[in-house]
Amino acid sequence: MSGRIPIQVTVNGRARAFEVAAHHTLLEVLRDDLQLTGTKECCLVGECGACTVRLDGRIVDSCLVLAVEADGGEVTTVEGLASDGRLSRLQGAFLDEGAVQCGFCIPGQIVAADDLLRRVARPTVGEIQEGLAGNLCRCACYGQITAAVAAAAAAEAGAR
Ligand code: FES
Repeated sequence: MSGRIPIQVTVNGRARAFEVAAHHTLLEVLRDDLQLTGTKECCLVGECGACTVRLDGRIVDSCLVLAVEADGGEVTTVEGLASDGRLSRLQGAFLDEGAVQCGFCIPGQIVAADDLLRRVARPTVGEIQEGLAGNLCRCACYGQITAAVAAAAAAEAGAR
């Protein structure tokens, strides 16, 4: 007996089946089994937000979610926010605003910002800061990150 547990997860719109060990995290499955390395591995204790993904409609630290807990669920990673090879408006805004220095935290920042913009179409600066409070940037690009989220929200509103 292998001790591995079969699970099924829809990742970025595609149904995937795995066998995982009971202790494997969702983060490990995404990075190691699916090679979705946009989701970053950093603190592994839920402090930095680098591993943020959407699971069943809410963002989670994937380092804190066991893979078996995601069985039957729907996951969206930063790769899933782009479509047809094109960056989302929000992803493009991070580039346009220069909101990337080392880049390590950016996937988590973008997934968290995407979640914020789904809930609040035109967030204030304070709402953006609060919405991204769980995502740390060691390069301290917080001003540019906030500007990118605000720019994406403004562009989305203008496109309607
Ligand atoms: Fe998951 Fe830091 S790696 S919160």
